[in-house]
Amino acid sequence: MTSYTHGHQASVLRAHSWRTAQNSCAYLLSYVKPDMSILDVGCGPGTITVDLACLVPQGHVTGIEPSAEQEEVLDKARHLASSQGVTNLTFSRGDGHNLPFPDNMFDVVHAHQVLQHVADPVKVLSEMKRVVKSAGGIIAVRDIDYASMVWHPPSKGLSDWHEMYERTARANGGEPNAGRVLLSWALKAGIPRDCIEPMVGTWCFSKSEEKEWWSGTWAERVVQSALAKSAVEHGISTEAELQEMATAWKSWCVAPDAWFAMLHGELICRL
Ligand SMILES: C[S@@+](CC[C@H](N)C(=O)[O-])C[C@H]1O[C@@H](n2cnc3c(N)ncnc32)[C@H](O)[C@@H]1O
Repeated sequence: MTSYTHGHQASVLRAHSWRTAQNSCAYLLSYVKPDMSILDVGCGPGTITVDLACLVPQGHVTGIEPSAEQEEVLDKARHLASSQGVTNLTFSRGDGHNLPFPDNMFDVVHAHQVLQHVADPVKVLSEMKRVVKSAGGIIAVRDIDYASMVWHPPSKGLSDWHEMYERTARANGGEPNAGRVLLSWALKAGIPRDCIEPMVGTWCFSKSEEKEWWSGTWAERVVQSALAKSAVEHGISTEAELQEMATAWKSWCVAPDAWFAMLHGELICRL
């Protein structure tokens, strides 16, 4: 397994917990029917998973995370579900490379921002194909493409952060530009081309509160998360350089014309 670049430190969880089905898998929602069974691979703190469960009141959602290290984040996901009174879901342990489910089981198999982090994304997609219903099942995957990130005003600290992130993610065995490779991986996993609809989604942070939240989480992540530890261990950045990147994030967001956008590759595969 690759080492998960971000880890689940508080600032990472704050970033992931902003995610909803609407802002992270809108491309899937028109296919979801109230009685469906859904598997959410790499569910993290479960905000998307809980939203999906609300959309399938007569169905069931299973969220999985790969190892004992992620038990704490699964507990947060369970807590979120119970605090919202959502009961038609289960959070359990399972690695995307070897899904602990029989063939042909789920109506939908979903993964958001996961394939960029795994050792073998083609194997994970093959497993997603194995456990989704072979007649009428849907695979939905979405991953960022870091090279597509654009921002204003220019900032040397943010440029340094971007380069540090790409190098660290690769050193950990990930693919930070996964968004553009999803279609290629799906074809290698044996999903027929005429079943796949490749799409693109964007996130744009331009309102003051969005910019403060986005830059605030990165200012903390760049010095306190597993990413910071990895960047130092791989000799990519020093702690002092990471500190400068954190300062750059804090000063970038106060500019009234600050604006940040990025592209995500998305695939709907209808079997
Ligand atoms: C960027 S987070 C995304 C979390 C969630 N899907 C979301 O968008 O909020 C990536 C998640 O994938 C999980 N992950 C990493 N490797 C995995 C694997 N081999 N199998 C399943 N999940 C994995 C990580 O633990 C992490 O929670």
